[in-house]
Amino acid sequence: MKRRHFLLGSGAALAAGAGGMAAGFATPQRKLVVQSAQYWFAGRDQITKGLVSLSPDGPPPVLSVMQGDLFDTRVENTLGDYTAMHWHGLRVPNAMDGVPYLTQFPIGQNGEFDYTFTPQDAGTFWYHPHCMTLSQMASGLTGVLIVKEREDLGFSTEQVLNFKDFRLDEEAQLLPYYTARGAARAGTFGNVISANWQVRPRYDHPAGGLVRLRLVATDTTRLYKLYITGAEGRIIACDGHPVDEAVEWPTEQAPYILAPGQRLDIALKMPAGEGQEVQIMGALPGGARALATLRAIGADQGRDLAEIAPLPRNPVTPLDMRAPKVHDFVFGWTPEGGTANNGFCGTLGYTFWSINRTPWAGDAAKDTGPLAVLERGKTHVLRLRNESPNAHPIHLHGLVFKPLRSNRRKVPQNWTDTALLLKDEVMEVALVADNPGNWAFHCHVIEHQKTGLAGYLQVT
Ligand code: C2O
Ligand code: CU
Ligand code: CU
Repeated sequence: MKRRHFLLGSGAALAAGAGGMAAGFATPQRKLVVQSAQYWFAGRDQITKGLVSLSPDGPPPVLSVMQGDLFDTRVENTLGDYTAMHWHGLRVPNAMDGVPYLTQFPIGQNGEFDYTFTPQDAGTFWYHPHCMTLSQMASGLTGVLIVKEREDLGFSTEQVLNFKDFRLDEEAQLLPYYTARGAARAGTFGNVISANWQVRPRYDHPAGGLVRLRLVATDTTRLYKLYITGAEGRIIACDGHPVDEAVEWPTEQAPYILAPGQRLDIALKMPAGEGQEVQIMGALPGGARALATLRAIGADQGRDLAEIAPLPRNPVTPLDMRAPKVHDFVFGWTPEGGTANNGFCGTLGYTFWSINRTPWAGDAAKDTGPLAVLERGKTHVLRLRNESPNAHPIHLHGLVFKPLRSNRRKVPQNWTDTALLLKDEVMEVALVADNPGNWAFHCHVIEHQKTGLAGYLQVT
């Protein structure tokens, strides 16, 4: 379907026609209701109102589905604002990708949309809105989505940590989601650094047991510099996919940088002694601090990391590097410009950023072409060049890619959907364009995305 067929000019048609594609399907198994929420953040003497979640009083749930099973979910919107749900990292059919105007209409108040797909990849993924993205994510609407392997890998327990900041004022109410200064630089940072909406939560796990730790960076802005003290472990997957090339165990001197959108799966052995603690540390501007704690409880299980079965590989089409087509992308500033046409999906009011020197014209702009057209079934190299002093986690929907080389460092060649581009970095990544459609391609610092650093690739 051509993009312009989606770009209706009529607000009335949108308001009435924002429903999903329920016809022909039975009622979905799962229902997610986007709603306003309130929550008591630790250490505050007032409840925070005006949050956005899937329940009235807590964080969005961890969703899970078995690899190869139907993920069959109705998203209902009870907010006054529009929304659309995106399944970050999952290689879904284009119509299920949740990108307003590109793959579906925004979901209006009391509207709904049925998302139905079968995840082919097992791993740690997440979900968030792609319409009113900044305001709804900053208000809490980011959740983890686990696609489970069919086989038992031998872990004793699992622990999900959804890292996300909130920006609260003295009265514990949400501050503005962005600042012009932040949007033009590294983004606007929150002041409550949370894991699962809690400040330094502590979770109990069996002493001497093997924990599968799933770390997810869902903040709109912050790059989490992570390392772990008090336990041995190893990195088993990055950004949803089992590592092909080993990734070094992070340390205080060399933390793992988990950028917005990225995930890290770790196999961890809990200490043997009851009450001993493992700290998930974050190096922050004011010094390192624990973002979460795992406490060993009970008798020593005496497990060994070697007992964990290797993660089965996901069915990703291998690269064919004999004659790939190379496409260039330059990420940089743009002269400050006017408002993009984001339709019903929220605008910050200016553009600062661009891809190939052109700021994204807006979600609802007419006749905006793809940044590149990728011939289906072929291997393509994307040469990503950062011409700015800020880091950009560059994310592609619907496909996975593999970093090949960088001018600044050694990059492990592991499949990913979100690659961090450092200051002045040029990174070449490769993919097989095996999923047809228009796939959003943008920086996952949401202020950058919403002020121009966005576009889409078309797989024909
Ligand atoms: Cu996680 Cu286009 O987004
Ligand atoms: Cu995505
Ligand atoms: Cu960016």
